[in-house]
Amino acid sequence: MKKIYNVGLIGCGNIAETYFRAHKYFNNFKIIKCADINIMAAKKCAKLYNILSVSVDELINDNQIDVILNLTIPKAHYIIAKKALMSGKHVYSEKPLAISLKQGENLIKLANKKKLYIGNAPDTFLGGGNQKARELLDRNIIGKIKFGNAIFAYPGIQSYHPNPEPWFKKKEGGPVIDMGPYYLTALVNLLGPAKNVLSQSLEGKKKRTIGIGPKKGKKFRVECPTTYFSTIQFENGTIIRLTLSFDVISHLRNHIELYGENGSMIVPDPNMFGGSVLISKKLNSSWKYYKTNEALLGKINIKTQSSRANESATNANYRGAGLSEMIQSIHTKKKHRCNGDLALHVLNIIDSIKKSAVTGKREKIVFNCKKPNFFNKKEIKNILR
Ligand SMILES: NC(=O)c1ccc[n+]([C@@H]2O[C@H](COP(=O)([O-])OP(=O)(O)OC[C@H]3O[C@@H](n4cnc5c(N)ncnc54)[C@H](O)[C@@H]3O)[C@@H](O)[C@H]2O)c1
Repeated sequence: MKKIYNVGLIGCGNIAETYFRAHKYFNNFKIIKCADINIMAAKKCAKLYNILSVSVDELINDNQIDVILNLTIPKAHYIIAKKALMSGKHVYSEKPLAISLKQGENLIKLANKKKLYIGNAPDTFLGGGNQKARELLDRNIIGKIKFGNAIFAYPGIQSYHPNPEPWFKKKEGGPVIDMGPYYLTALVNLLGPAKNVLSQSLEGKKKRTIGIGPKKGKKFRVECPTTYFSTIQFENGTIIRLTLSFDVISHLRNHIELYGENGSMIVPDPNMFGGSVLISKKLNSSWKYYKTNEALLGKINIKTQSSRANESATNANYRGAGLSEMIQSIHTKKKHRCNGDLALHVLNIIDSIKKSAVTGKREKIVFNCKKPNFFNKKEIKNILR
């Protein structure tokens, strides 16, 4: 019989529901207890999912728990992951790994020293859509990728998140730390590690208004730049222009476009698991669709648009796949895909984008990682119910 790992969830906020939903899809973990710095939030979550709520320290030291699932806000990722590792537990955190490179480096060192697994979101690159793009690139279908464009741009989280303030704080705020992990992880999965970064930023409105929840109508101050333009050079020579912004009302550009020697590819939304890959191999030719709506981890499983504006009603969301794949890797003593080296590399790019926007200089990426292995059907079936 397969071992079911006991997971303790810390951070009972907006995204927690998505991880409880993951019980429906994955066969190797069960969230059995939860905790939050806000005791009421933990109690509410425990009642809703019929589990126990305890204090954060109790959960971290609980012998029943195999893995800590860290769904706190970015600023708290470091301290919670560190405490989990110190108490001898594996940890999987939401993105980003931490809010400073030094913190991220410390966590990876600590996990290595303790011989524990440290995993990190995003896991969306394991989805049918982005894996299809990877498969086609591995088959060299459009030749060597010379350059490309990537964009995430919308008006910001304040309209649909009841506590949006941390997304606009000086240190942990801004679009690079929030949405960068999806785009950068997807790009590393497709192209391999990055080499250097050059970027510029600009500031949007100085104040924003909360659009939902008990604080609706309240204005708060924006402490960070809210738009970044970056040029990223990858080890394989590919150059990507990346725009990340909380200052755009609407746009019609594709999430990621890659231009190869023999054609162009449109990569599905790296924030989601499904979507079609489009390929054009001739000027003015129609685009060939490679659908993934029947693929494992690609089937549409969202029927209605939830309050989260970044969850498309016609896409697939299998968040928790990375946690499940990490648990499978613990079990089989293999390296997991959403691993610490990948998360630290991505944090290094994030940090360099922010630094370069201040210094105006090209920043070298120093923490390297391996391109994750393609996630094949047999491996996916192993973790699915
Ligand atoms: N909301 C989304 O759509 C979404 C999607 C994907 C990923 N994420 C990521 O998930 C994480 C959480 O996001 P969210 O939207 O659920 O945030 P949230 O603010 O709704 O919830 C975070 C929870 O963590 C708790 N918390 C904060 N500091 C803590 C600490 N030191 N110890 C214990 N608990 C603490 C808060 O009280 C809160 O209940 C973030 O890293 C975010 O980037 C969010």
